[in-house]
Amino acid sequence: MHSVILGTGSAAPENVVTNHDLEKIMDTSDEWIVQRTGIKSRHISLPGEKFSDFALPASRLALERAGLEATDIDFIFAGTMTPDYLMPAGACSVQALLGAEKATAMDVCAACSGFIYGLSIADKYLRCDPTLNILVIGGEIVSHHLDWDDRTTAVLFGDAVGAAVIGARADGHRILAVETGSNGNLGELLYIQGTGSATPVTRDFDIKDNYIQMRGREIFKHAIKNMVEVSNRALANAGKTVEEITKIIPHQANMRIIEMLAKQFKKPMEEVFVNIDRYGNTSAGTIPVALNEAATTGFLEPGDLVLLTVFGGGLTWAAAVVEW
Ligand SMILES: CC(C)(COP(=O)(O)OP(=O)(O)OC[C@H]1O[C@@H](n2cnc3c(N)ncnc32)[C@H](O)[C@@H]1OP(=O)(O)O)[C@@H](O)C(=O)NCCC(=O)NCCS
Repeated sequence: MHSVILGTGSAAPENVVTNHDLEKIMDTSDEWIVQRTGIKSRHISLPGEKFSDFALPASRLALERAGLEATDIDFIFAGTMTPDYLMPAGACSVQALLGAEKATAMDVCAACSGFIYGLSIADKYLRCDPTLNILVIGGEIVSHHLDWDDRTTAVLFGDAVGAAVIGARADGHRILAVETGSNGNLGELLYIQGTGSATPVTRDFDIKDNYIQMRGREIFKHAIKNMVEVSNRALANAGKTVEEITKIIPHQANMRIIEMLAKQFKKPMEEVFVNIDRYGNTSAGTIPVALNEAATTGFLEPGDLVLLTVFGGGLTWAAAVVEW
C-alpha cells in the first residue's frame, strides 16, 4: 500500500485582472510584467469573497473525482495563510461547509509550501493508518495583503485554491516521497509585518503592515537553490533519478525561476507545467491548482514520473515525487 492521490479539484475567483488593467492604476507595463515574470493575468477576489468560497468547490471536485463522500474524510489539512478567520482554522470552515462530520481539521501555515507540507503530513498519517481518507487543501486569498501602490509586489500575486484527496491503495497515483525544509533565519526576506502578535491590529495600526513585503532578488536565488536541493532529496528517497522524471509541476512564482529549474534538471519546457500566465503566484494554491489542471487536461499521462516542487515565505520549501 502507498499513499495515492485519489482526486483533485481547484477553484478561483471569476474576476480576472490583466496586466493592462494594472497599467491603469500603477506605473507598470504589460511588457515589464510579462518579460520579468511571465504573468499576463490573475484572478483577484471581489469584496466579500473569502478562502472557503473557493476551498469548498475545489474540495467538492476532489471528493467527487475520488468517489468519496464528505463524511468519509478523516482529516482535513488546509495549507493557507489567509483562512476566513484567524480562528477558527480555514480547514474547520471547510469542514463545516462540506459536512465532513468525522474529520479532524487544521491549518498548515507554511506560506507557498502549505500544500506539499500538508501532503507530507497526510502521507505520514497514512503510513500509520492506511484506512484514513485525507483532504489536503492549498490556496490563498492573498490579494487582501497586496499594496496596490507597490508595483514591485502587487503585480505578482493572485487568488486561487486547489485540493486533493489522499488515501492508501495498492494502485493509483502513488506518492513515492515527500520532503520538506525551512529556514526561519531568512523570514524577513518575504513577510507580512502586521496582524500577528508582534504587530497586532490596534487603533493606530498602519495599513502598510498588512501588506506583503519582499526582497525579490534574494528570494529568487534562494528559491532556485532550495527547490533543487529538496527535489534531489525527494528523488533520492523515492529511489529515482532526475533522468527518470518525465513531468515537473513547479511553484508558479516567476517564469524565469521555472525556466532555470527546467535547465538545472535538463528538462525541455514541454515537460514542465506552466499556468503562471493565467494565475500569477497564488502562494499555497500554485501546486494543487497546477496539479489539478495537469491531471484534468491530459498533461499528466499514465506512467509519468512527476516532480512537484515549491518554495515560499518562512522561508519554506518542499518537493514530492508522484508516479502518475
Ligand atoms: C520580483 C521580481 C519579479 C523582480 O524582478 P527583477 O528582475 O529582480 O527586478 P528588480 O526588482 O531588480 O527591479 C528592476 C527595475 O524594475 C522596476 N520594477 C519593479 N516592479 C515593476 C513593475 N511592476 N513594473 C515596472 N517596473 C518595475 C524596479 O523599480 C527596478 O527599477 P530601477 O532599475 O529603476 O530601480 C523578481 O525578483 C522575482 O520574481 N523574485 C522572486 C519572487 C518570488 O519568487 N516570490 C515568491 C516566492 S513564494
